[in-house]
Amino acid sequence: MPKHIKIVTGDFMDKGANYEVKDMGLAEQGMLNLEIAESRMEALMRVKARFSREKPLKGIRVGMALHVTKETGVLVRALVAGGAEVAITGCNPLSTQDDVTAALAKEGIKVWAYKGETTEDYYRYLNKVIEFKPHITIDDGCDLVSMIHQKHPELIKSIMGGCEETTTGIIRLKAMEKDNALKYPMIAVNDNKTKHLLDNYYGTGQSTIDGILRATNVLFAGKNVVVVGYGSCGKGVALRAQGMGSSVIVTEVDAFRALQASLDGFRIMPMREAAKIGDIFITVTGNKNVISVESMKLMKDNVILANSGHFDAEIDLKGLKMISKPRRVRPFLDEYKIGGKKIFICGEGRLINLAAAEGHPSEVMSTSFCGQALACEYVVRNHGKMKPAVIQLPAEIDNHIAELQLEAMGIEKDILTEEQKKYLETWEEGT
Ligand SMILES: NC(=O)c1ccc[n+]([C@@H]2O[C@H](COP(=O)([O-])OP(=O)(O)OC[C@H]3O[C@@H](n4cnc5c(N)ncnc54)[C@H](O)[C@@H]3O)[C@@H](O)[C@H]2O)c1
Repeated sequence: MPKHIKIVTGDFMDKGANYEVKDMGLAEQGMLNLEIAESRMEALMRVKARFSREKPLKGIRVGMALHVTKETGVLVRALVAGGAEVAITGCNPLSTQDDVTAALAKEGIKVWAYKGETTEDYYRYLNKVIEFKPHITIDDGCDLVSMIHQKHPELIKSIMGGCEETTTGIIRLKAMEKDNALKYPMIAVNDNKTKHLLDNYYGTGQSTIDGILRATNVLFAGKNVVVVGYGSCGKGVALRAQGMGSSVIVTEVDAFRALQASLDGFRIMPMREAAKIGDIFITVTGNKNVISVESMKLMKDNVILANSGHFDAEIDLKGLKMISKPRRVRPFLDEYKIGGKKIFICGEGRLINLAAAEGHPSEVMSTSFCGQALACEYVVRNHGKMKPAVIQLPAEIDNHIAELQLEAMGIEKDILTEEQKKYLETWEEGT
């Protein structure tokens, strides 16, 4: 039986040689959730079946810092089926599903994570993954890669490459590349069509609303919903909020995206105007302080603020805490007062879809994680041939993922005739 030990947070944790999780008693529920996720992630299960036969990751140690959800558990199992040994921690203090960590620990996976981690534990667990000496790193937000480069450069020579899951991580990696600081090849899994045009869009669209509903149970119909940032995530959030009967306002800094939002039928205005009329504000920019304290002072009474961008930097909570003290009114909902008006902050400003809900639905994570699994295979196959740069997976792999998912959904598409293929490759034929 695992030994219960007391840790700095005052929580009781289950701890073994290769794991530190909240409660091993949750393993059975975790197994059931993994079973449900597997039944909805058919494309990834097909990759797993091939991996089981071909063992493309035999002998490879994969170190992961990803949101530890049931879908991530399915990815872990696929990598193990391919011959890999896996060690995993979370990439956000609030996103871990404690039943899933217990199930993975029971299966013998090295796992260190719990929901509500302290900053100290967050970094202690990242170190555990680093001590595992991975050949491949999988990151969501670039914290693992950043820590290896800054504190453990001696490991870099044995690392074949890495994979990055999210937009914010890619931005950080490109900054490292620009500074000549990136020392091993990184596959930009986020930049697959089958990732950012599905996961960020449909996934964030649905799960962000789900998170806000679970935190607040507010009615979206009839509300002015302000979506801050009209990228892949913002487009999905705006679409779903509109579908629930909200009047959507978009704020943007990019001219083309603002134009796109306008042509999609949304009102565009600067935050200083949107702040005065919004009821619910949702940030999805990957940027810092996009809702400032000055904007909050302009807001109406009882507004709700939520973030679904990667880091908790989008809403200026530090500034807010300097002028107001939070009161926890229910799980994942804090009330602040400014000049007699109430402002409600969801999930401590951390990505609300994973803090208060369960992250994206499994179906959409299926294609994202096909990208991760196939990126690991790509790194092994191309070891020694890739530069230390941010690398996009070849289009054939991305298209193969779409084919797998269509097959899994039982959808048949058309194929080009020989005549059509030839026509598309020639330039002579005109009117
Ligand atoms: N919650 C999730 O599950 C989830 C899933 C995928 C991505 N993400 C994260 O969400 C964030 C957005 O991702 P994306 O793929 O949509 O990125 P993106 O680059 O496609 O879009 C971001 C948009 O925000 C805009 N923006 C930047 N600063 C702004 C400001 N001050 N005001 C208004 N708009 C501003 C940019 O111009 C851009 O159009 C990233 O941090 C990403 O890592 C979260």
